[in-house]
Amino acid sequence: MALPDLASQLEAQLGEAVSLNTSVSDLTTYRLGGPVAVVVRVFSENDLVTVGQSISSAQDEIPLIVIGRGSNLLVADSGFMGVGIILDGEFTEVKIEPGLRVTAGGAVPLPVVARQSAAAGLTGLEFLVGIPGSIGGAVRMNAGGHGREIREVLDRARIVDIQSGKTRICRADDLDFSYRSSNVKRHEVVVQAELRVSLDDPDACRKRIDDIVRWRRENQPGGANAGSTFKNPPGDSAGRLIDSAGLKGLRVGGVVVSEKHANFLQAEEGATARDVYELMKLVQRKVKESCGIDLESELHTVGFDENL
Ligand code: EPU
Repeated sequence: MALPDLASQLEAQLGEAVSLNTSVSDLTTYRLGGPVAVVVRVFSENDLVTVGQSISSAQDEIPLIVIGRGSNLLVADSGFMGVGIILDGEFTEVKIEPGLRVTAGGAVPLPVVARQSAAAGLTGLEFLVGIPGSIGGAVRMNAGGHGREIREVLDRARIVDIQSGKTRICRADDLDFSYRSSNVKRHEVVVQAELRVSLDDPDACRKRIDDIVRWRRENQPGGANAGSTFKNPPGDSAGRLIDSAGLKGLRVGGVVVSEKHANFLQAEEGATARDVYELMKLVQRKVKESCGIDLESELHTVGFDENL
């Protein structure tokens, strides 16, 4: 079965949850990039298994991306000839339990988890307010900020392998976390995370949230970007290195190295995904020339000739 047949099968099974040729610009923080051939909103683990079975029974290999909040994703202007999954429904729920545990579905935005926990007088998750992704994406890439990473607060994650239809429930130790990395595979979807918190005064929690939001406003640009473009090399900061190489303001087409924080590449009106990709390559080359360090992309790039 080829992609169009798969799309028809999924439409027959899941109805309006399936949309064809959806522009990824509406689904990513960069607000650019081409169409995703098949987007499926999944509302339950059953839906996920249905999608997985259809993809697995296709003769052609069907590429898959989990789109999440699209805050770390760059899709080529020519688009993505595969299936993009967006979690919805039960995956958008947050449960705050008296037993000092916060349980959040994979689709829940990190700032929502941070704010709801703080309002309930639970501390430990304030740092998540500064990260624009989803809980599922954060577990997959061990997202972090303000000196903390999700692995430090993760108790258990529930992960569905959409190839096999099996679910695994993992402790943080099972996920081989390291800086911006875990062992979660491309065909696995993090559908839920249980996070550890402790009791505190709600006002103190809210103050920490406000401090982080203020820090971000002062130190990071708004607008269309995907946060940090490159991972920090061991012991240094990608932003500092790009800045030291004199690259603030460097431009390809409609994309420019931010004057506010050099690890942010800002897309202006009319920018293309190719502009972002070419500017990433140019920055990598110039930083390598200037200090010998290879910067590695933090973004998931899809549909380009090589991964950066
Ligand atoms: N710096 C410069 N010039 C710049 C930018 C930064 O000299 O243009 C210097 C700063 O002065 C500072 C150092 O570089 O001394 C580190 O900068 P910053 O504190 O902004 O932190 P970062 O390492 O650039 C990391 C995360 C961010 C997270 C912040 C806050 C990575 C790649 N980035 O940035 O995460 O928000 O810390 O904790 O780990 C993201 O991953 O998308 C992201 C935004």
